[in-house]
Amino acid sequence: MSRIDPHSFVDDTQPRTRHADLSLDVDFARRVVTGEIHLRFVAPGSGPLDLDTKGLTIHAVATPDGKAVPHALGEETPILGRRLRLDLPPGTPAVSIRFATSPDAVALQWLDPAQTAGGSHPFLYSQCQAIHARTVLPLQDTPAVRISYRAEVTVPEPLSVVMSAGPAGDRRGPRPGTRTFVFEMPQPIPPYLFALAAGRLASRDLSPRSRVFAEPEVVEKAAWEFAGVEETIRTAETLFGPYPWDRYDMLVLPPSFPYGGMENPRMTFLTPTVLAGDRSLVDVVAHELAHSWTGNLVTNATMEHFWLNEGATTWAERRILEALHGAPAAVLSWAIGEKALRDSFTRFGSGSPLTKLKTDLAGTDPDDAFSSIPYEKGARFFALLERTAGRERFDRFLAAYLARFRFTSITSGEFLAFLEAELPGLAAGVRADEWMSGTGLPANAPVFESEALEKLSDLAARFPEGARPSTSEVARWTPAEKLVYLQRIPRPAPPAACAALDGLLGLSTQGNWELLAEWLAIAAASDYEPAFPRLREVLGSVGRMKYLRPLYNALGATLRTRALAREVYAGAKPRMHVLSRRVVESVLAAYPS
Ligand code: BES
Ligand code: ZN
Repeated sequence: MSRIDPHSFVDDTQPRTRHADLSLDVDFARRVVTGEIHLRFVAPGSGPLDLDTKGLTIHAVATPDGKAVPHALGEETPILGRRLRLDLPPGTPAVSIRFATSPDAVALQWLDPAQTAGGSHPFLYSQCQAIHARTVLPLQDTPAVRISYRAEVTVPEPLSVVMSAGPAGDRRGPRPGTRTFVFEMPQPIPPYLFALAAGRLASRDLSPRSRVFAEPEVVEKAAWEFAGVEETIRTAETLFGPYPWDRYDMLVLPPSFPYGGMENPRMTFLTPTVLAGDRSLVDVVAHELAHSWTGNLVTNATMEHFWLNEGATTWAERRILEALHGAPAAVLSWAIGEKALRDSFTRFGSGSPLTKLKTDLAGTDPDDAFSSIPYEKGARFFALLERTAGRERFDRFLAAYLARFRFTSITSGEFLAFLEAELPGLAAGVRADEWMSGTGLPANAPVFESEALEKLSDLAARFPEGARPSTSEVARWTPAEKLVYLQRIPRPAPPAACAALDGLLGLSTQGNWELLAEWLAIAAASDYEPAFPRLREVLGSVGRMKYLRPLYNALGATLRTRALAREVYAGAKPRMHVLSRRVVESVLAAYPS
């Protein structure tokens, strides 16, 4: 037996799945998806086949000619779930499994009508990365096993369905009052990119190959915010080659969505907090779009190589930003990322093994290991390679890398071996080993500087002594400049200083969530009461973990703010995504009692 991924029961000596045909029925009343999955193998196989499942009920397993396949669920294990071992008869080309999900499947969030913008229909969305696909489907849930898929999904009318796949029509459903939507994903994807959402959805075309989906109440605002997406796609294409997934559509979710964005192929999922009203947060789209090459086309083989996905993509996102808005804008983005990196080093301790690029995650839940380190340390490693090789040579390397590994899933070792073959000596020259297996940030990390950045840092550092920018100066700042300034404000700040900051930047009435969240973190850490009503609203409505963690952390500062945090969380908890809950609970548990 040969396990290839610490987060999966997959055994590479067994048959390998190449394609899945799905038939899913969504039951909002029971919060259950029932279905059938038909797994087709690369070649006919026999004997044991281990699949991943978590919380699934298995009703029946059969061969294509209808013979029952003996099967057994193993012991429940806390991170991986339960192994489903099938015993395939000789020469089995495929199996069908009938199953049902559990109402608390981690990958599925079921929303009551009251949790949607429209308020009158329920909503369902999935989030499978990193290892939650197995709570929806029994399959080989490791990124190393890529599959194409076709799906038929039945939902109650008038809901519609979108997936990480191309739409292939819809028809009347099997029961009155239902409709069945059909999808095809012809390209092989890792299972974590399986995605589905069902709700009352409207859409607007943004270009011949891009469309945004959202609830009807939100769709106009979304269409305005993302009007520039075609320009972003074209810019990315000049950097990374032709867009490889046909369409690039987006879905704006209700506010409980735990991430900023998720790069589900052909259908990026987005938090509504990116709808700033001034297009200032569309870099999230640049990031998810960049995953179309780094992550979705060339994929980390396991979560131990997650930096290959997120580091490359964060670097790619900033190349897109630079091409669209110039080098100084990219420098600010690196500076904003640096703050996130420092926070993660503080959270784990900079000597923690979780600060390595190549991590050892046996026995660790990838959700617990999640941080800005693979993003920001990984992106800095890419930038170091780029600077050392020179941009032109590195861009040629990148093109060769994407061409060599397209539609495959690779390890850090495979990346480094290819780097050595293409640009001999570069890895040794930048001490790649230290980046991979050393903790903290290596001394040769690239530094990003600009005049604007220096000014803003200096101004913020002198905030406690009373230094303030003038109103006209602030009026000229971009949202990114405001954010850099706010991030560098020392805290706690006295009430008068908080009030001045709020007045100067108009923070309480911010449409930009990055600015709002940073302001509220300052206010929370400063026990600044006038901001509490807005803070309550935000914590009560938003599921994005990037905001919840620092806000609840900041509320740990005093007895009074800790009480506020516990009270607000108790109220918000029932409506929250299970992943967001876990993050908040881990922060609350670390409060001094
Ligand atoms: N793929 C990630 C989100 C993710 C990572 C979900 C790991 C589950 C497990 C996505 O591309 C991402 O990085 N989103 C960021 C966007 C930001 C970096 C622009 C987010 O959600 O904040
Ligand atoms: Zn990402």
